[in-house]
Amino acid sequence: MESLPDPIKWENGTTSGEPGTDPRGGKVTIIDQTRLPLEEKFLSSKNYRDVCEWIKSLRIRGAPAIGIAAAYAAALAAYEFGSHGEIDSKLDAAIHEINATRPTAVNIRNILARLRKLDVKGKNVGDVFLNEAHRILAEEIDSCRKIGQFGLELVPDKAVILTHCHTGGLATGGYGTALGIIRAAHEAGKKVMVIADETRPLLQGARLTAYELQKLGIDFKLIVDGASGIAMKKFSVDLVVVGADRIAANGDTANKIGTYNLSVLCKDHKIPFYIAAPSSSFDLAAKSGEDIPIEERNPGEITHFRDCRSAPENISVYAPAFDVSPAENIAAFITEKGIIRKPYGENIAKVLG
Ligand code: MRU
Repeated sequence: MESLPDPIKWENGTTSGEPGTDPRGGKVTIIDQTRLPLEEKFLSSKNYRDVCEWIKSLRIRGAPAIGIAAAYAAALAAYEFGSHGEIDSKLDAAIHEINATRPTAVNIRNILARLRKLDVKGKNVGDVFLNEAHRILAEEIDSCRKIGQFGLELVPDKAVILTHCHTGGLATGGYGTALGIIRAAHEAGKKVMVIADETRPLLQGARLTAYELQKLGIDFKLIVDGASGIAMKKFSVDLVVVGADRIAANGDTANKIGTYNLSVLCKDHKIPFYIAAPSSSFDLAAKSGEDIPIEERNPGEITHFRDCRSAPENISVYAPAFDVSPAENIAAFITEKGIIRKPYGENIAKVLG
């Protein structure tokens, strides 16, 4: 088993820093997920605008990971503007800019709201935000480990598990949500086999899930998204577990495009369909999936394969990045606070407080 790189970390500077930046010269470093698995390239910056660009371009991606990145971006902005004792107008505008990077994953919004509630009176706001960002990172890692442990009881020995998109260490603070359950089952000695959807169009499954599973020494097969139905039959899939970008109060769940199809297939095949997510991915202000904004991406992600055109010119394209699986299709939610079962309207509020 090989260790996985950190998705994101803060490195304190040893110099006094440049004017207009964190006085200690600190910076954020990520692994560029768009270059994986071919290249392990790290990017560093002291500028919150770079972090915004990384989030928009999916260099860092996965709902919990972009929430953490948003917290570090807010700290960099506060240092840049020398914010002291209050969230001044420049910092407020920067927080709005960070919030607007990606609309569906609620983690960014939840985490920025958490920063806004902190007591900054008489304090260097950069220091306050940075300490909170460290706390958020540590909490997200801890949540993933707990999700892994709670999820164990749902995974039979020798289970065949199908998953979609990428929910591993790099998509979170480390360890993973849906992939964290698979990892915990593997570590507990259950001989699991994973079916990983490639996840069109940006191939998070083929590039990142396969990269992590291989490094962790977990048995898996990669399939095209359209093969999930036949794979359920051929490999007698025991359960499907995926992550979430936003879970509404009634349990409707937005996740990577194609997840909804899987939830419907699971009903037909009588396979339990689980969502693994930390509480930072819940949005109790959204009553149902109708209230979840769905990000639409650049059509070029579908009409081209990297720089090579793969569809005719001048065609109409619909490119949603996410879809919503209805609560009724979901067998349970696995969170760091425990397993949540139906009726979700009642139980989500009860478990998450
Ligand atoms: O567009 P992406 O790659 O950020 O989409 C990510 C997903 O849909 C993940 O399944 C979700 O964020 C959960 S990550 C633990």
